[in-house]
Amino acid sequence: MSIRDGYPMMKMLAKSPAGLEEILAGELQELGAVNIELLNRAVAFEGTKKELYAANYRCRTALRILVPIAHFTILSENDLYKSVKAIRWEDYLDNSHTIAIDSTVTTSLFTHSHFVSLRVKDAIVDSFRDRTGERPSVDTENPDFRINIHIYKDEVDVSFDSSGASLHKRGYHVSNAEAPLSEVLAAGMILLTGWDGQSNFVDPMCGSGTLLIEAAMIAMNIPAGQFREEYGFMRWKNYESDLWEEVQNEALEAQREFNYQIVGSDISEHNLRSAGANLKQARLHKDISIKVSPFQEITPPAGGGLMVTNPPYGERIRVEDIIELYQELGDALKQNFKGYKAWVISSDFRALKMIGLKPMKKYTLFNGQLECRYAGFDLYEGSKRARYQTGESETTGNGN
Ligand SMILES: C[S@@+](CC[C@H](N)C(=O)[O-])C[C@H]1O[C@@H](n2cnc3c(N)ncnc32)[C@H](O)[C@@H]1O
Repeated sequence: MSIRDGYPMMKMLAKSPAGLEEILAGELQELGAVNIELLNRAVAFEGTKKELYAANYRCRTALRILVPIAHFTILSENDLYKSVKAIRWEDYLDNSHTIAIDSTVTTSLFTHSHFVSLRVKDAIVDSFRDRTGERPSVDTENPDFRINIHIYKDEVDVSFDSSGASLHKRGYHVSNAEAPLSEVLAAGMILLTGWDGQSNFVDPMCGSGTLLIEAAMIAMNIPAGQFREEYGFMRWKNYESDLWEEVQNEALEAQREFNYQIVGSDISEHNLRSAGANLKQARLHKDISIKVSPFQEITPPAGGGLMVTNPPYGERIRVEDIIELYQELGDALKQNFKGYKAWVISSDFRALKMIGLKPMKKYTLFNGQLECRYAGFDLYEGSKRARYQTGESETTGNGN
């Protein structure tokens, strides 16, 4: 095993939402991670404990960072039990600790991941009970150790989850409007546009303000975990508070000024009140301006910039209303957003076409379980207006 800055290098796995793997790989590379490999909804990488802490604190598109501790093959349920029991759990935890098991299972050996979690829990508990007569207890809400089991065919990976609660829980979302975006998805959407924070940012259907807050954090390079107090690794036996402090200080030193405007609006006063509460919690209420207004009446800041929005879709709205809403969004973009790049996410592909502009790029993303298209439009100034076209774009798939 190689050593860097006095710490052993280790293999880790960062989990991401589908479609954001490349963005996450870029974030990890910036932190100093090496041997980065793109997987499905995850990125494998190597680094030291410092990169482990930094990935948790700084990666905007990671859901959790796992540290593998064992890998083996199994032919039966009993194999799983025996191999898990054989792990030296006492090296990592004591019987006074609480545990929770998360399992992801793609195998003909088991039909229920819940059953796998139960068997793994039994194996860990029995390994302690056999040696000490006492056992760690289970706490699914706020455990000291989250243990991750991944079974694919006959291959089993056992990992510790260094994040604890999912990293989308940034700590600033104190008030929810209807259908808020996940913070990780919102950050990924902004990073997918290639925005470097050097222009205005607008969300004219901002709801609880997730995109606005993530945009401000990207623009000022505020670490993703700035408002979060707890990570799983803080309860580990090998936790080093000095190293954690070093990681935080390095991130804070990398913050920068932002000299443009971030503005949000929403037709719903109630939703905007949520945005106000969240902005305050993120201490960004002085950097972001919000107001109640239909998007049809919004004039964005002069000088161009980026607009990213998440209009209503799904089952909450009548079909006729949604078609009209997207048509009006298209009209507003053509008339009021010249000089802007505009990105819209929606699971309603028919409504998205009603915008009546040809996307320059489209990605497939998932908002929870809902498959969405995330389409980007270039709203050229003046002479290039001829490039506006209605109808379906020929571009499909990721990044085309
Ligand atoms: C899916 S939610 C956006 C959620 C937001 N991204 C968040 O993270 O909280 C859609 C929002 O569009 C707003 N909306 C609907 N019609 C609107 C209109 N004509 N003008 C402005 N906002 C509108 C709704 O009030 C709602 O807050």
